[in-house]
Amino acid sequence: MSEVALKTPTETQSGNLLDVQEIRAQFPILGEIVHENTLAYLDNGASSQKPIAVTETLERYYATQHANVHRGVHELSDRATEAYESARKTACKFVNANRTEEIIFVRGTTEGLNLVAESYGRWKLQPGDEILVSEMEHHSNIVPWQLIAERTGSIVRMIPMNDNGEIIQEDYLNLLNDKTQIVAITYVANSLGTVNPIKEMVRMAHDAGAVVVVDAAQAAPHISIDVVDLDCDFLALSGHKMYAPTGIGILYGKGELLEAMPPYQGGGEMIRRVSFEGSTYADIPHRFEAGTPNIADAVGFGAACQFMWDIGIDEIATHEKELLDYVHKCADRYEDIRIYGNAKHKAGVFAFTLDKVHAHDLGTVLDRQGVAIRVGHHCAMPVMKHFNVAATARASFAVYNTYDEIDRMFEAINFARELFG
Ligand code: ALA
Repeated sequence: MSEVALKTPTETQSGNLLDVQEIRAQFPILGEIVHENTLAYLDNGASSQKPIAVTETLERYYATQHANVHRGVHELSDRATEAYESARKTACKFVNANRTEEIIFVRGTTEGLNLVAESYGRWKLQPGDEILVSEMEHHSNIVPWQLIAERTGSIVRMIPMNDNGEIIQEDYLNLLNDKTQIVAITYVANSLGTVNPIKEMVRMAHDAGAVVVVDAAQAAPHISIDVVDLDCDFLALSGHKMYAPTGIGILYGKGELLEAMPPYQGGGEMIRRVSFEGSTYADIPHRFEAGTPNIADAVGFGAACQFMWDIGIDEIATHEKELLDYVHKCADRYEDIRIYGNAKHKAGVFAFTLDKVHAHDLGTVLDRQGVAIRVGHHCAMPVMKHFNVAATARASFAVYNTYDEIDRMFEAINFARELFG
């Protein structure tokens, strides 16, 4: 093990593009003291912190705009409806969809993926049909497919990855056949940081006659998303990982597919007419938004998109790439650090284990130093199985993170070595 002191680069290394300190000032929580240390928050893959622009939007919404949407004849209901539907327009622009009707507000990626599995899957899948799911998926993009496969007699097949954490494209091509109905893949793997070549994978799936469902939960905070360019059929993302409130996300679906799909849940908002002889359903997107929606957080989601645009998504990506390069360089100096995820294209995530310290012990020691990371299987047990490990430690980055915070993580790792080594 090398104990070479790591030189701290100055903030200006990325400061040419953005002023990180000015951005940090917009996140009061980053000044919190944790176990007598200033917080170094490196658990953004689990959930990012929220800027004042988002929290103030929520306060303003509740103070001046709130009522139920789509049903009031009064002024406040009009204001709430206007704010909610305007957030849908913003979300549409955020993923570059063609039509606002193609955007459904959901609780998050998990609900979006379950919606597609239930509604599209139940309608489309026949016994013997195949669903391809990659080995690096989060459980949210595995279990919904297993559930619908059980109910329809279809089969879930796994697309393997290599030891760098990249999908093996030859295997993917070989698995595609005329029984493949659905390909479900992540844009960025939460446990490895791999950025998958979605556009090419969509083209290959379409050539085989399959639709593609993209889990963009870990991509949305780091990559400019363009559903038209990707040509994916469905794409789900979560607001809370991209500076928006918890409990809100979006599902994008191609209009012609959504229009043909049966409802996911029944209730108010999603109907056209109800009688005991039978009911008819609303047009998209409302057909898929049963019950009173999460209006305030949808409005907060719109504010988060604006926050990201104000900085520039490419600038965010560049800053985070610099942090990722730096963390890899730092880790290279230690022989007892094993890295999980060495894909050529990576975003946001640095996953590792330390030879003599269990990931959970490491997480606890880091927490005592004020450094927040995630440890565990990251809801990606097949990835842990691939690498024959029970748990990893994961630092994951956001626009407000600094080199100094990475240095603090390595100092805390040194401390853990001394304790357990
Ligand atoms: N899926 C989230 C993560 O990767 C919670 O941490």
